[in-house]
Amino acid sequence: MMQIPIARPHLAGDEADAVAQAIASGWISQGPRVREFEQAFAQRVGATAAVATSSCTTALALALHVSGVGPGDEVIVPSLSFIATANAVWHCGAKPVFADIDPLTCNLDPRSAEGAIGPRTKAIMPVHQLGLPADMDAFSSLSARHGVAIVEDAACAVGAEYRGQPIGSLGTLACFSLHPRKVITTGEGGMIAVQDEQTAERLRRLRGHGMDVSDLARHTAEQVIVEEYPERGWNARMTDVQAALGLCQLRALEQILARRRRLAARYTAALERVPHIETPFDPDYARRTWQSYSVRIAPEAPVSRDELMRRLLGDGIATRRGVMAIHEARAYAGDDPCLPHTEEAARERLLLPLYPDLTEEQQDYVLERLSHAIVDG
Ligand SMILES: Cc1ncc(COP(=O)(O)O)c(C=O)c1O
Repeated sequence: MMQIPIARPHLAGDEADAVAQAIASGWISQGPRVREFEQAFAQRVGATAAVATSSCTTALALALHVSGVGPGDEVIVPSLSFIATANAVWHCGAKPVFADIDPLTCNLDPRSAEGAIGPRTKAIMPVHQLGLPADMDAFSSLSARHGVAIVEDAACAVGAEYRGQPIGSLGTLACFSLHPRKVITTGEGGMIAVQDEQTAERLRRLRGHGMDVSDLARHTAEQVIVEEYPERGWNARMTDVQAALGLCQLRALEQILARRRRLAARYTAALERVPHIETPFDPDYARRTWQSYSVRIAPEAPVSRDELMRRLLGDGIATRRGVMAIHEARAYAGDDPCLPHTEEAARERLLLPLYPDLTEEQQDYVLERLSHAIVDG
């Protein structure tokens, strides 16, 4: 029986050498490769600068902090997201306020977000869920009208485009994830796309305990430098070993995106003929990354979503429930907001295996077992 995981990072083959060279150089913590990776990443996503971090979660917390978010403030987030979206707000001492999604895109609905704005709202955090860009024109208009910051959770959106512009170039802080479930990976890691050098320099200090001089600058200095700590910071540093991997991954990005796009198109063409399954929305205004392939299983289907997952696992196929509803997790229980579209999507959506090295034969097997389970009940 075939064994098909839900995801698998694509490694092009040059990574082991690059990582070995980083180790041999002696720079195994943050050093010149992180700088090089940041520059290459900024160029790819059309940002003025990029700041590497230990994860997307730390990237989001840092981005919120430099946007002025702190204790007592509120940040509006979609509940339909991975729990890290809300945790990043909590890490800043602020309160995540959950808003509903647009059921078509499964992204934060700007009208619901606007309705959640109150006197303590400091920021809105749209998520480009599963790599589909959120409605950024609407969010920049909200930002201008209400004086709130926008921080993009672009965890799944490396390489995505909104109206022809890469995510990362849209004028706000955008935070990407480099976890192995994402489009490209450094094992663990994150990146903040920034539009001005001053903010980038502040973020670089904040990720390293607030120290005003980097290890790289001190190491290469010809004079003694005594560092200063103008403000309090975090340890959210990426290592050079990770950056070596990231540089290889960035070179493979176009190939990874093209392969994901092709497999997604194959799924859609085949699943449009299968009853009770709704294929994902693929709008003209955006270029998705296809970080995941999410289908809706209609409630009247002869087999429930959870039963379908069990049957597919019995066939050697790993699936996942769709994106979670954070307000339904015990960690965020309490306020009980009214988010009908979020709750419906969390109940009905299913993620199918999608990764660049998935073969067409394996994909056909997934399609065959899925159609069999859903048609025969
Ligand atoms: C939407 C979203 N935001 C944030 C994160 C957190 O990313 P990381 O694991 O790099 O902290 C993830 C994924 O894990 C995610 O899917």
